[in-house]
Amino acid sequence: MSERPSVLRVRCPAQSRFVASLRHALASFLRAHGFAGQQLDDVTTAAGEALANIVEHAYTAAAAEVDRYIGLRANVDAQGTLALEVYDGGAFVERRPMRDRGFGLRIIRAIAGRLTIDTSNGTRLRMIFEQKR
Ligand SMILES: Nc1ncnc2c1ncn2[C@@H]1O[C@H](COP(=O)(O)OP(=O)(O)O)[C@@H](O)[C@H]1O
Ligand SMILES: [Mg+2]
Repeated sequence: MSERPSVLRVRCPAQSRFVASLRHALASFLRAHGFAGQQLDDVTTAAGEALANIVEHAYTAAAAEVDRYIGLRANVDAQGTLALEVYDGGAFVERRPMRDRGFGLRIIRAIAGRLTIDTSNGTRLRMIFEQKR
């Protein structure tokens, strides 16, 4: 592990056909930084839910000229702590809880050590994972 933080940044159109590639890019980056096994599965599962939410929800009310992108940023510091951000330029949709929906954020909360959701400018989920060695 290098002493410097190592960062993956990806940005692509908010279309479902890119979601798997983003997940795979994240998995490769994390593998190269010592993440493995169940923890690697957990992180990519959480990322997948956040990415799917952007495709499904972020731009539903957006005007035609809005840049519909998915942003992903993964930062691994010298201690092996991962700060993962999944963000968009859309608008967070507040919804009443529905009985058979709404598992994505719950799944993320159950997996990530910490989760913050900033909806001030698009939606930005920030998840922190301590690497299990
Ligand atoms: N990136 C996002 N942009 C806009 N709204 C979002 C975003 N992520 C989540 N949401 C809102 O949060 C709700 C809960 O998300 P989630 O738990 O994944 O449930 P689901 O996707 O099944 O509705 C979504 O229904 C949506 O209203
Ligand atoms: Mg969802």
